[in-house]
Amino acid sequence: MTLMTTEHVDYGTFEAAMAKSRVLEQDLQNTPEKHKLLTGDRPTGRLHIGHFFGSLQNRVRLHKLGVPTFIVIADYQVLTDRDTFEGISANVHELTVDYLAAGIDPTDGKTFIFPHSHVPELNQLLLPFLTLVTNAELDRNPTVKEEIVASGQKSINAGMYTYPVHQAADILFCKGTVVPVGKDQLPHLELTRTIARRFNNRFAKDQPVFPEPQPLLSEAPIIMGLDGGQKMSKSRNNTIMLSATEDETARLIKRAKTDADRVITYDPDNRPEVANLLMLISLSTGRKPEEIADEIGDGGGGQLKKILTESLNEYFRPHRERRKKLENDPAYIRQVLLDGVQAAREEAIKTLDEVREVMNMGL
Ligand code: TRP
Repeated sequence: MTLMTTEHVDYGTFEAAMAKSRVLEQDLQNTPEKHKLLTGDRPTGRLHIGHFFGSLQNRVRLHKLGVPTFIVIADYQVLTDRDTFEGISANVHELTVDYLAAGIDPTDGKTFIFPHSHVPELNQLLLPFLTLVTNAELDRNPTVKEEIVASGQKSINAGMYTYPVHQAADILFCKGTVVPVGKDQLPHLELTRTIARRFNNRFAKDQPVFPEPQPLLSEAPIIMGLDGGQKMSKSRNNTIMLSATEDETARLIKRAKTDADRVITYDPDNRPEVANLLMLISLSTGRKPEEIADEIGDGGGGQLKKILTESLNEYFRPHRERRKKLENDPAYIRQVLLDGVQAAREEAIKTLDEVREVMNMGL
């Protein structure tokens, strides 16, 4: 058998991925139309400011460079690590509202948002792709391993092990070339590249069907929660939602953790809680955290929180206004999704035709 070969998935190093990302970033700036951006989320609820500064803002920036963009809402993925499915449809809508409010504009004719459960031809790619990876390779995926531990499930469904292959279908169905991701998604992208390569080698040696998509890591900082030491995340109850009101924002920030030292300084190593709040002011005002700290000086935590509340509320005011309008127009949100599904299906049908043809399954 030559199929599996002796080549293994190389899960790579973070530093190497970062260096490649910088080169790719330049290329996106120079020739945006040459690329196709593919990105995705699981519909598990509304987005918070950690999502915004950590990834959404970067997507909007790339979108505004004019890179054609598909945003896949990975609703099937929700079933891999949780029992609840009641909220999926509402969450798909919430997510779409957050994208649009943040500045993703599907009326430009080259930006599409769609849930993958509505694109059968995308899902069908999963079948040939599953034959191109080994059980052992799926078993070794470090992100899946972590998610299995985090889910607390005793018996793990096969969808959990195979969702990175499904994710390869999410990316390759439209021949995506660039995938903006966080560090945790790098193993999945390496697997996607391996699947693309193996598919081409096995079935389409002379004329490759799939490009090998590249990860784009953002330089954005990881936003910590208001409780200090851990990442901002809804399950940890330490977030500010993009949809929060100004009063809610003020209340949440009042409860944020700081420290006993009255004089405010920017010292991420020794004063992570204060540094995180300063970083949030910096992100929403464009000013340097050191400069903001100097200005607050011995104004203490009270002053720090007051400035943070004002800065965030001001920064997100237009976003929140747009969000409210969009929320009140569910028919429009649905239409955006239907248009996205239609465009995604057109791509997926073309790709699946090609795939069947090279696999000698044409009629
Ligand atoms: N696994 C991703 C997450 O949990 C979501 C996702 C699904 C995705 N399909 C994708 C991300 C394709 C990038 C490309 O966040």
